[in-house]
Amino acid sequence: MRKFYIEGGHKLTGTVKVSGAKNAALPIISASLLGSGPSLLEDIPDLKDVRNLAEIIRRMGARVDYQDNTMEIDPRSLDQYATDPELAGKIRASYYMLGVMLARQGQARTSLPGGCSIGNRPIDLHLKGFKALGAEVNINGNIVELTAPELTGNKIYLDYPSVGATINIMLAATGAKGQTVIENAAREPEIVDLANYLTVMGAKIKGVGTDVIKITGQEALHGEEHRIIPDRIEAGTYIIAGALMGQDVYVKNVLVEHIKPLLAKLGEMGVELEEDIAGVRVAAPEKLDSVDVKTLPYPGFPTDLQAQMMVLLTQADTASVVTETVWEDRFKHVEELETMGASINVDDNSALVKPARLTGAEVEATDLRAGAALILAGLKANGVTVVENIGHVERGYEDIEEKLTALGAEMEKVEGTIESQVTTA
Ligand code: EPZ
Repeated sequence: MRKFYIEGGHKLTGTVKVSGAKNAALPIISASLLGSGPSLLEDIPDLKDVRNLAEIIRRMGARVDYQDNTMEIDPRSLDQYATDPELAGKIRASYYMLGVMLARQGQARTSLPGGCSIGNRPIDLHLKGFKALGAEVNINGNIVELTAPELTGNKIYLDYPSVGATINIMLAATGAKGQTVIENAAREPEIVDLANYLTVMGAKIKGVGTDVIKITGQEALHGEEHRIIPDRIEAGTYIIAGALMGQDVYVKNVLVEHIKPLLAKLGEMGVELEEDIAGVRVAAPEKLDSVDVKTLPYPGFPTDLQAQMMVLLTQADTASVVTETVWEDRFKHVEELETMGASINVDDNSALVKPARLTGAEVEATDLRAGAALILAGLKANGVTVVENIGHVERGYEDIEEKLTALGAEMEKVEGTIESQVTTA
C-alpha cells in the first residue's frame, strides 16, 4: 500500500496550478461518445478515475489517445453497449454510460459499484429519469440494463438536485424525440461545462446553471474540441492549505465565482485573500475566527470541501459547527483527525469542532476528500504524519505531492506492494 509521509510545520510559498476538473472531465469524456466523429478534450487531469473511464470506453470499441492532459476520443468504432463489469465497478462515473448509450443506441448495460465509503449511493433518480423518457429498466444484482427502442422527451422532477442524475438524464435526453424538462436540476459548474460541450456538439440545451433545464433532442451530434474547467475542489484544497500554512501562496487557474462559498467563509475566519481574474492569493493569518459551515448543493458550501475545511476549523480560536447535509456518512475523517489530536464531537450529521493542536500520527485515507484533509492536517501538525491508503487521493488530485512539495511542504510518497481496493467517486 502506498503512503504519504509528511513532516509538518513547513511554511508554504509560491504558485500552484490547478488541474482540470475531475467531475467535469468524467461526464464530458462519456459525452464524447455521442459524437459522430472524434473529439479533442484538453485539460483532462491525469487521475486514476480518468484512466479507468478511458479504458472502459476503449474496451467498448472507441479509440482513445491520452497524453499531456489531452484526450482524443474517436467513437466511430464503438460497437458494444455494455461496460466491462470489473472496470465499471471501480469507478462510480461509469454510470454515465447508461445515459450515453441509451441516447446513442437505445441500449445500455453497466455494473454498479457496491458499498461506498461516504454513504448509501442510490441511483433511483437516474432510473426515474430514464423511465420517464421511455426506457425499460432491468436490475439483476448490481447489473443495470436499459432498453428503449425510442426515447421521448418528458418532464422529470428530481426529488433532490442530484449531480449525477441531472447529468445522466441530460445525456439521455440529447437522443430523445422532442423536449425534456428537468425540474429541481442540480446547478453545479461541472454540469454547465458538460452542457457547453454538448451545445458545441450540436445539442439544444437551455437553462443550465438554473434549476430547470430544457433539452431538445437532436438527430445527431458531432465531435468537437473542448477545454475542461479548472477543478474548484482542488483549488479549494490548496487555498485551505494556504490558509493553514501559507506565507504567500498563489493558487492559479481558478474560476473564482465557482468557489465563492469557500472564499466567503475564509473571509469570515480572517484569512488574508486577494482574488484576481486567474487565481487567489492566500496567506495564513495570526489568528483564525471560528465559523459554522453547512454543506449544500451548489451554490452552497461544497460537501467535497467539508473535510478539508474541518481541518482549518481545528485551528480556530473557538468551536465551530460543521453540518453535512449532502452525504449521510461523510465524517469518517473525524476519527483519523482525532488520532492526530483533534477534538471533535459528532452528533448525527453535525460535528462540533473545538480548537486543538495537531500532532503527527499514522492515519488512513477513508475516501478521496478525507485523504486530502489528512494531508492538510499533516502539513500543520507537529512531527511526522503517515497517510495510508492514498489510492483514494490519487483518484482526485493530480500530482498532489509534487504540487505541495514545490510550495515548500516536506512530503514523500512511499511505494508499497499491496494495492488497495478503491471504490470511486
Ligand atoms: C457528485 O456525486 C460528485 N461525483 C461527488 O464528488 C459530490 O460529492 C456530489 O456530486 C455532490 O456534489 C462526481 O461528480 C463523479 P449526487 P453524485 O447524485 O453525482 C442522493 C468527490 O469527492 N441521491 O448529487 O453521486 C445521494 O445519496 C465526489 O469528488 C439519491 O438519493 O452526487 C446523496 O445523498 C464524492 N438518489 C445526494 O443525493 C439518486 O438517484 C447527492 O448525490 C442520486 C443521488
